[in-house]
Amino acid sequence: MRANAELIKSLYQNYRIASGYIDERFSKPLGRVQHKIQVGSINNAIRRYQIDNILEVACGPARLASDVKGFKKGIAIDTSDQMLEIARRRVRNPDKWRFVNADAFNLKLNSRLQLIYSFRFIRHFKTTDRMRLYKAFHGLLDNHGILIFDALHYEKIAFIRNIENRGQEKIYDKIYLDKKALENEIYTAGYEILELKGVIHHFYAQAVISRISNKLKIDMIGIRAIYSIERIPLGRPLEWIVICRKR
Ligand SMILES: C[S@@+](CC[C@H](N)C(=O)[O-])C[C@H]1O[C@@H](n2cnc3c(N)ncnc32)[C@H](O)[C@@H]1O
Repeated sequence: MRANAELIKSLYQNYRIASGYIDERFSKPLGRVQHKIQVGSINNAIRRYQIDNILEVACGPARLASDVKGFKKGIAIDTSDQMLEIARRRVRNPDKWRFVNADAFNLKLNSRLQLIYSFRFIRHFKTTDRMRLYKAFHGLLDNHGILIFDALHYEKIAFIRNIENRGQEKIYDKIYLDKKALENEIYTAGYEILELKGVIHHFYAQAVISRISNKLKIDMIGIRAIYSIERIPLGRPLEWIVICRKR
């Protein structure tokens, strides 16, 4: 399994992968619930911290940018022209967004930002590269600017991973078995944690509900059931949404 910046860049520079991305990952009930929770966290932070300007790093086909609201100006960057082309078409408020082909490791902007978010990106890098990314974002943020991203807590069994990644090259995922390790990493990178929100607390049960309800074409019932059991605060979450602030 390779885990380098060039591999992750090149994987998405393909129109077929870019155009199938949302459908493959976020069209089933479980993906839709994950998406809604992620968007909710970003929108809450925008509201709570009175954010005007935002940056999305590795925006892909604007899965999140299309639903993020409450800000005045947004920049979204990605290294895939194929993803950016779809993003420009999908976004609902194009006058607020500027989509730019730029590399997260080497990003230069004219003004500082109040909030940066990035999902399904940082987790694909090993420690040295994650630290480089945190440092780059630190330099782009205002004093006390907010950073939001996802961190995996739960290693799915190989069988499930193989189904999810069928026909695709395996990408590295950083998994924090221990919450403390994630907290230390964020603090060392120069941020203080405001919130670690656990998401998908009953992965296997929720994945089964998702699959069956989708097969039976009763997705809305599946979504409601997934939300209902999500309220039971037991179990280890599949991932955390990390909301932290530049120290
Ligand atoms: C798994 S997709 C995630 C898309 C989106 N963030 C989401 O959560 O749906 C990863 C994205 O990272 C982009 N990417 C890869 N390397 C990058 C880099 N060095 N700088 C910026 N974007 C990059 C890819 O083109 C791809 O769109």
